[in-house]
Formats: sequence, C-alpha cells, structure tokens
Amino acid sequence: MKLSVHFTPTGVTPAVLAGKPVVVLDILRATTTIVAALANGAKAVFPAPTADEALKIAQNMGKGDRLLAGERRCLPIPGFDLGNSPLEMTAEAVGGKTIILATTNGTPALVASESGQPVIVAAVTNFSAVVEAARHAFAEAGELHIVCSGRERQFAIEDAYVAGRYARAALSGKSRSKKALEMNDAALAAIELVRRYGDNWSVPISAGAAAHDLLRLRFKADVLAASTPDQYDIVPVYDDRRVTASSRG
Ligand code: MLT
Repeated sequence: MKLSVHFTPTGVTPAVLAGKPVVVLDILRATTTIVAALANGAKAVFPAPTADEALKIAQNMGKGDRLLAGERRCLPIPGFDLGNSPLEMTAEAVGGKTIILATTNGTPALVASESGQPVIVAAVTNFSAVVEAARHAFAEAGELHIVCSGRERQFAIEDAYVAGRYARAALSGKSRSKKALEMNDAALAAIELVRRYGDNWSVPISAGAAAHDLLRLRFKADVLAASTPDQYDIVPVYDDRRVTASSRG
C-alpha cells in the first residue's frame, strides 16, 4: 500500500493522481467553507482557480440560483455575493443555491487534483466522515494521496498537521512493515507533526501565517470554527467540475 502526502499542489500533476483516491484540504479556509456550504444545503460548489474563471462559469450558468463567493487576501471579492468564510454559509444564505467559489490556494488545489478518483473534500469539521471514506478508498485502491493547498505554493502548518491526522487515521490498524506500506517523506513528516502537537486541533491550526492573517482581519471565529471537529457528517466529492455531498449511513 502506498500513502503520499503533498504539502503543496506544486508537484501534483494529473498523471500522479489519475484514477487514485485523493483527499484535498485547505483548512484555513476554502475546504472548511465548502463543507459548511454543502452541509447547510447548497446544491453544489464549483471551485474556480481564479475570480475571472468564476465569472466565466457564472455567465455560462445564467443567474438562477447561483452565488459567487471567494476571497483575495482573505477579504471578499468586490461584486461577489459572499466571501470565503464558513460562517457566511448559513442555510438562509446558501440553501438550494449553486456556489461558484474562487480562493487563492484552496480552489486551485482542488482543480489541480481533478484527475483523482474519488476526490474527497476534507476539513476538520467533517473529519470522521472523511476518515471512513478515505480508509475505504485506500483499502480498495491500495493507494491514497492527501493534497494540502498550502499557501502561495509554500508549506502551511495547519494543512500539514491535518494531513498528518488523516494519514494516521488512514493507517490505523494497517501493518507498518516496509514491505506492506510505502510512505513518502511528506507523509512521514506530517505524522511526526501530529506526534509533536498531539490531538489538540486548535494549537497547530492557530500557529501559522494563515491563522495570524485571519486573526488580524478579525476572522478569529473562522479559525475556531475550522478547528472544531465533526460538526458535519458529510463527505463532499469533487467530480465533473463540481463538489457535491453525500452523508454517511
Ligand atoms: C485560500 O484558498 O487561499 C484560503 O482559503 C484563503 C482564506 O482564508 O480566505
């Protein structure tokens, strides 16, 4: 079996992921926001790599029930309906709507992962549901990739720590003999990070530059929400350019 963590999407080519199960995460905040939107009744989320691309997708869709959402430097994009805060994704705001979301790191990482099968959208807020789906996909395929969005093509500690939590959970109960299990260096390092921080989500998630920027911009509640596990029992999957959700059981 082979487990790979990617600290940024930089080396993630379509060929690397083609047909393999992939877990994508951007804890602060894009995947946390996608999970909140779908859990609160959004029909689908279309991730766009740029704001211009989001506008193009919206034009092709017609006005109807769609909302444009996203951020630049963590702040809402002028002219868009919503920003990139999970707390904005209330049932009143997003219920029954299709959302087109453009963010700096998270939505490009999702688009870069589109050749995977399935491409599971992960946060802390749907941790247990995704662990179950990822373990199942890992057992079936014999391979699992965990893609961190990172920050501006650099390492982001909150994504790396959560990748380590997912990696550790995916491996639990599996033989660690070298023959049976191959891990890349990033998977080893992510699991070491979990040893360093333990099971407390909020310390590593608040430790990095992304959290500091969000705190400075008064998004402390978003950081807290993004660090609170298992608020939702859904497994969002990215397929055919959109993310939709199924719940367990
Ligand atoms: C991103 O995709 O870069 C982030 O979600 C930024 C943010 O926190 O809004």
